[in-house]
Amino acid sequence: MDTILVLDFGGQYSQLIARRIREQNVYAVIESFRHISVDEIIGRGYRGIIMTGGPNSVNDPESPHYDPGLLDAGIPVLGICYGAQLMAQMAGGKVAAAGAEGEYGRTQLTVTENSIFKGVPEASICWMSHRDRIVEIPERFSVKAYTPQCACAAMSDESRKLYAVQFHPEVTHTRYGTQMLSNFLDICGCDRQWKMSRFVQETAERLASELKGKRVLMALSGGVDSSVTAALLAKAIGNNLTCVFVDHGLLRKGEAKAVEDVFRSRLGDSLVCVDASKRFLGELAGVTDPETKRKIIGEQFIRVFEETANSLGGFDLLAQGTIYPDVIESGKGDSAVIKSHHNVGGIPTDMKFSGIVEPLRDLFKDEVRRVGLELGLPDHIVKRQPFPGPGLAVRITGEVTEEKLGVLREADAIFREEIDTADMSERPDQYFAVLTDTSAVGVKGDSRLYGSVIALRSVTTEDFMTADWTRIPFEVLERASVRITNTIPSVARVVYDITSKPPATVEWE
Ligand code: XMP
Repeated sequence: MDTILVLDFGGQYSQLIARRIREQNVYAVIESFRHISVDEIIGRGYRGIIMTGGPNSVNDPESPHYDPGLLDAGIPVLGICYGAQLMAQMAGGKVAAAGAEGEYGRTQLTVTENSIFKGVPEASICWMSHRDRIVEIPERFSVKAYTPQCACAAMSDESRKLYAVQFHPEVTHTRYGTQMLSNFLDICGCDRQWKMSRFVQETAERLASELKGKRVLMALSGGVDSSVTAALLAKAIGNNLTCVFVDHGLLRKGEAKAVEDVFRSRLGDSLVCVDASKRFLGELAGVTDPETKRKIIGEQFIRVFEETANSLGGFDLLAQGTIYPDVIESGKGDSAVIKSHHNVGGIPTDMKFSGIVEPLRDLFKDEVRRVGLELGLPDHIVKRQPFPGPGLAVRITGEVTEEKLGVLREADAIFREEIDTADMSERPDQYFAVLTDTSAVGVKGDSRLYGSVIALRSVTTEDFMTADWTRIPFEVLERASVRITNTIPSVARVVYDITSKPPATVEWE
């Protein structure tokens, strides 16, 4: 089977690169640069190498470096972002900090003719996320693309089949990124025979054999990821699975009842619902730091699951609907911690389960949805917009209180209803309200109001690793704003968040 090696330098998008390759029916594996030598790479017969991005600067001696022999191994190599800068340095070129300004998000790209840009128009949009840049082109390379702020956005040495791109072809917002990766697979001479549809069958069989005779407690939130994980585990281990739904008091309006209603009919007695709202709110009292909030919530979830497991006669393993962005954004290997997803970075080290089962850990949201449909879950579960495990706690900046939760629940319900009923050509993938800890002056009924600021957030994305803010029609925003300020006495202002990811994240905390 023709295989591409994704040589990981700690990038946020390493798995995304592998997945883009899988989408083109070519198998891809990820290896940290620390764990594989050039000789091993040659020995394993990879058809091509992709050097990933990473959070470091190649000029920092402590940052990841690699044997320059890779460039003369006779295997095509594509360097992306940090990987491009490293390739430049390995080949004898120079990289320097770009000064105070980095280049983040949507950028105009101009390309010249090159085998990696076959079928790509001269001008298009690419997605950038970098501070350093290539300032001296190595010998045998020539510049193949530029942006307004980056004189070398791509370079190549065709004779050795070496390609470097400063931008991210793997993210969907790079308009012709898939075409560029496909061109690279052609340059590598790959057969396109690998199929993702085998995932469900093979994973269910593996789980059935590895979990034989074990009792598994599944943390079910009712969201897409945990629902699909539960369905996969139910297929694999049947009665040995118990699903526990915890109401942590940080759910959206009407959500606790809605989740129980949907899953009670599917799971019967193997669904256990626990109301732990007092406990979570008590632990969060006085806490304002976002990471501390996330850690507290992660720990309390585990404690509630442990106690529930005890009361139900003991379980061997805890199952979670962790997916790849949760893992990577909580910091894995050499990548930077963006935020501690409650189900990864928030897990206490002294957990009483003997292990964790996370069968969707390598998949992205849209891949998880496809798995869910394969397993026969209905559209209204599989296509739900995501809701983070820490719930409204990461949508209230500052301390979380019952009163603030009440305000946010109302504002959020109004905004979601307006979007759900709006006639919009572009459907957002996630949309919600945030209660900021800023106050602003307003006037209501001839009186001065010094009240809260609600921020509305709506994003369009395929995989939640990168996202663009949705161009919501002004009338829809206006209706939401009028209803929120009219219905909730303490809200003085409504603002709309127009930041893409990167540089922002989807959630505010
Ligand atoms: P960010 O804010 O990291 O969000 O850009 C990307 C996607 O992940 C969701 N999210 C979480 N989901 N536990 C979860 O289960 C978490 O701690 C968490 N934090 C963010 C977020 O809603 C978005 O869909």
